Amino acid sequence: AKPDLAPTPPMGWNSWNTFACDINESLIRDTADAMVSSGMAAAGYKYVNIDDCWMAPQRDGNGRLQADPVRFPSGIKAIADYVHARGLKLGIYSSAGSHTCQGLPASLGHETADAQSWASWGVDLLKYDNCGEQNGIPATTRYKTMADALQATGRPILYSICEWGQNQPWLWGANAGGHMWRTTGDIANNWSSVMSLLDQQVGLEQYSGPNAWNDPDMLEVGNSGLTYAESRAHMSLWSIMNSPLVAGNDIRSMPASTRDLLTDPDVVAVNQDWAGRQGAKLRDDGDIEVWSKKLSDGSAAVVLFNRSPNVATIGTTASALGLPASSAYTVKELWSNAVRSSTGNVRAQVGAHDAAMFRVTPGAAADVAPMIVVEAVPTK
Ligand code: GLA
Repeated sequence: AKPDLAPTPPMGWNSWNTFACDINESLIRDTADAMVSSGMAAAGYKYVNIDDCWMAPQRDGNGRLQADPVRFPSGIKAIADYVHARGLKLGIYSSAGSHTCQGLPASLGHETADAQSWASWGVDLLKYDNCGEQNGIPATTRYKTMADALQATGRPILYSICEWGQNQPWLWGANAGGHMWRTTGDIANNWSSVMSLLDQQVGLEQYSGPNAWNDPDMLEVGNSGLTYAESRAHMSLWSIMNSPLVAGNDIRSMPASTRDLLTDPDVVAVNQDWAGRQGAKLRDDGDIEVWSKKLSDGSAAVVLFNRSPNVATIGTTASALGLPASSAYTVKELWSNAVRSSTGNVRAQVGAHDAAMFRVTPGAAADVAPMIVVEAVPTK
């Protein structure tokens, strides 16, 4: 049976968005160190994932995948040991075809041997891509065959299906052994890509749940193509959608402002809370959107999202969020940590391409003067 490795959305880091094939073992080791020293690990980020290009151009004499001798001269087991010694987990990558997307050897027809290799090295996660010759075998079969091979090793390995949403994996990914599945093509380091992926998530809410997460791809938070506001909006939206939070920036050198976006405890708590359905778009006024999610303590999370190039005042109400009637609500803006009491309005002035993110809880805030309208303006 599928191991219970992702009761909440997986959190980690992946080499692809920043480094592509420019990877090596010292990058992975330094990243593992930075995961701990930056506070990412304490915030819940556990997986250090090596994406494409870790493998040598040829299998060994026994038909086994082997690490690229230049990029990973110590081998993958040594990296796994290093990562595990820091309390983290190691992820690796292959493809359900003859080759990876970078033309390196992949796992179709080699599922049992490759799964055994990864298990013997101490790998904890497999991201399984959809490139290479597929010999006419349907995706459902190719992905299930690898899940069976992973499970047969006896090592619990989180299985991340990456077939870009082409065959609606939300319909079969969970039964094919997947803990998460990409719903789209690749994210890119720019705002229009983030917006396009966001729009493709609408309607998929019902397919998400423990050990079965919709994956709108890894984060570009902190990367050069996004402004600070855009990174904050991206993080707010991926969090409320229960998306796996897989950082894609260079965490060895990230500024504190990026670290704070990735590790905000209230925002991560919204992502990790499963109350029966991932967050969904509640209102769409063109450039103005309201996203909401019920939380398991009876509160609601809300993202007030401004896609326009101008500042906008955006509001919703406790009743629109589906909260029970109450004479007062505690409203916390999660990025600024401003807490207010409200009779039901939740409102903020939101900058261009930015988001405010709230937790709204029935009942007055204990030490806070009541006010009718909240104007929590994220700053920075
Ligand atoms: C595909 C995947 C990406 C990345 C690359 C690596 O494009 O969707 O996430 O893994 O392959 O080549």
